[in-house]
This record gives sequence, structure tokens and C-alpha cells, in this order.
Amino acid sequence: MERSLKEALKLRRSYYAVSNKSLISDEEIENIVKFAVKHVPSAFNSQSTRLVLLLGEQHRKFWDIVKETLRKIVSAEAFKATETKVDTSFKAGYGTVLFFEDRTIVEGLQKAFPLYHEKFPIWSQHTSAMHQLAVWAMLEDAGFGASLQHYNPLVDKAVMAEWKLPENWELVAQMPFGVPLQEPGQKEFNPIEERVRVFK
Ligand SMILES: Cc1cc2nc3c(=O)[nH]c(=O)nc-3n(C[C@H](O)[C@H](O)[C@H](O)COP(=O)(O)O)c2cc1C
Repeated sequence: MERSLKEALKLRRSYYAVSNKSLISDEEIENIVKFAVKHVPSAFNSQSTRLVLLLGEQHRKFWDIVKETLRKIVSAEAFKATETKVDTSFKAGYGTVLFFEDRTIVEGLQKAFPLYHEKFPIWSQHTSAMHQLAVWAMLEDAGFGASLQHYNPLVDKAVMAEWKLPENWELVAQMPFGVPLQEPGQKEFNPIEERVRVFK
């Protein structure tokens, strides 16, 4: 990471207009994803997160799956807007990271530690979210703009079949990315004083 952690966290934004360009090699993008999987913490060090990096044609295939899935369930009128959004904001990018959680690991923990049975699925989602932020900030640092999407569970079946992924992997989120074509929108911040209390 070239920037300080604070800078990277501050500069990470949601980018919805991106191009299919990259300023770094595919291997470096792969290393970002692998770095997150290795170093981001997980509940009970369970390492339950699974990431799939889709680049080029594979990335575009994912967004075609999203479109074809939605085409079947929304009205023709609504689909027009969806298609434009998918084509210009997501499919137009360079790649997509798919975030999964391994159900087998979560179920194993539930059996091993019955006291926390109900907590493990929640902590698994927290673990995924930590990976999402890490990948998002590192992609930003590498010159990409990314956004976070949730077309699961609608697309789950088609995705599992297309990339022959283990059935115990549960899709949690999708992060399309590419070189930004425009600045992110204005962001409102609620007063920090209302959101943080310090006692000393
Ligand atoms: C848990 C979570 C879920 C989100 N889901 C979506 C989503 O489904 N689609 C989307 O476009 N943005 C999604 N976002 C992005 C937020 O809308 C965005 O981060 C927020 O408005 C702040 O803007 P910023 O990312 O530019 O800082 C999500 C963000 C988080 C943290």
C-alpha cells in the first residue's frame, strides 16, 4: 500500500462510473486478493472467507448472469434501467471480486462451540465485511474505483454452476472495479459527536 492506512480508508469511495482499464498487472490484482485472504482476521481464526477474482471475459460473464437473472423477474420497463446500470457501472469495469463464506467452516464451529451456536453465522458475515473493506481500500490504493453490490441470492445458482464452485460456499457480496471515469458523488457526514462517546 502506497498510502497510509488512514489515507486509504479516507479515499475509499463507491465509484459507479469505471472503465475496463487497469494501472497494474493482473498478477498484482491477484496479490491484493490473496493478501486480504491471508492477513484479514476472522472469527476464531476460522478463515471462512473465500474470494473469487473475475477478470476480463469472466468478469463480463458474471454481469451477463446478473442481467439475465433480473430480466426474468422484473418488468421490461424496470429492466431497461437495470440493464443500463449494470452495463455502465459494473460490466464496463475491469474485474469483479466475489466474496463467499464457507458454510462448512461455520457449521463446524457451531458444533465445536455450542455456546456460540447463533453467533457464528453473524461473525462469518463480519469476517466477510472485514475482507470487503480491505480489498476495497487496496483496490482504491492501486488506482481503481470499486463499489459493493448484492445480487445474491438471485444469482447464486448460476454463479455456482458457471464457475463450478463448492456448494458449501455462500455468496455474500460482489465488488466490481475499474479505473474511475468520474469522481464519486458528494457524501454527507452525520455529526461525529453524536456517533462517538469518549469516557476517560
Ligand atoms: C454493508 C454495506 C452494503 C452495501 N451495499 C451496497 C449495494 O448493495 N449497492 C451499492 O451500490 N452500494 C452498496 N454499499 C455502498 C454504500 O452505499 C456506500 O458505501 C455509502 O453510501 C457511502 O459511500 P462511499 O462508499 O462513497 O463512502 C454498501 C455498503 C456497505 C458498507
